Amino acid sequence: MANNLLKGKRGIIFGALNNQSIAWKVAQRAHEEGATFVLTNAPIAMRMGEINQLAEETGSQIIPADATNVEELDHLVTQSMEILGGKIDFVLHSIGMSPNVRKKKHYTENDYRFYSQTMDVSATSLHKTLATLYKHDAMNEWGSVLALSYIAAQRIFPDYNDMADAKSLLESIARSFGYHYGIKNKVRVNTISQSPTVTTAGQGIKGFNEFINFSEQMSPLGNASAMACADYCISMFSDLTKYVTMQNLFHDGGFSNTGVTQPVIERFGDE
Ligand SMILES: NC(=O)c1ccc[n+]([C@@H]2O[C@H](COP(=O)([O-])OP(=O)(O)OC[C@H]3O[C@@H](n4cnc5c(N)ncnc54)[C@H](O)[C@@H]3O)[C@@H](O)[C@H]2O)c1
Repeated sequence: MANNLLKGKRGIIFGALNNQSIAWKVAQRAHEEGATFVLTNAPIAMRMGEINQLAEETGSQIIPADATNVEELDHLVTQSMEILGGKIDFVLHSIGMSPNVRKKKHYTENDYRFYSQTMDVSATSLHKTLATLYKHDAMNEWGSVLALSYIAAQRIFPDYNDMADAKSLLESIARSFGYHYGIKNKVRVNTISQSPTVTTAGQGIKGFNEFINFSEQMSPLGNASAMACADYCISMFSDLTKYVTMQNLFHDGGFSNTGVTQPVIERFGDE
């Protein structure tokens, strides 16, 4: 269902790894809604080559950039404006990675070199991206920058490990930069806190399959899919949400405000 919500808008989309990625669906929906954009991902993630299919499907160019590397972000932002023919209207930061999760290091025994990498890739990269856009005056007024978060930023989900700390920092950066960018250029910055979703990053979390079922039963509307998340992102990039900034927006079927549900409580009844 396309409504030309992003007609004439230019964007940069980080993080489409394969067709399960949330960023992949956002790119497909943004294309349907009339946007033009550049796709980007870490050079190492390009090796699989799947992003080429998405680029072809959406008529987009790809610019590799490690989002922790300021020089590569500089190149990405300046080149994107050149390719797209003007300033940027929307940016999706859909990036997450924790070496502690990957190497199965318990939270109480985290490796601090890994911990710094988790913060840099999953959170500070948003600051670096925003600072690069800001420095180059690359965003149009009322532009919209979105990053993806998870409720472990507010509440403990033990197996989410140091990604929880990274998401707290990510949400804080969106608030802080949202203030400064709002004052300077009326640019909005928000995070969307998404339901657990079957993707490469999601499946890296221990006990993910059990957890996704738990979350489904704890959400009055059920878990939000990647495609539903993409729809929400499109609305946040559109002019229909111009005064929303510095927010963490839950897109989780009601999970965040639910104490318990009947299906879950019934599991604890006398048999
Ligand atoms: N899947 C879930 O359950 C879930 C839930 C809530 C939030 N999120 C968040 O959504 C976002 C997207 O994740 P996804 O679930 O689509 O998984 P995904 O694995 O498809 O996407 C993660 C992306 O991060 C990219 N990336 C990693 N290091 C990078 C770097 N240094 N520079 C640039 N890109 C880099 C990867 O290449 C990949 O494309 C992440 O922020 C994730 O934490 C996911």
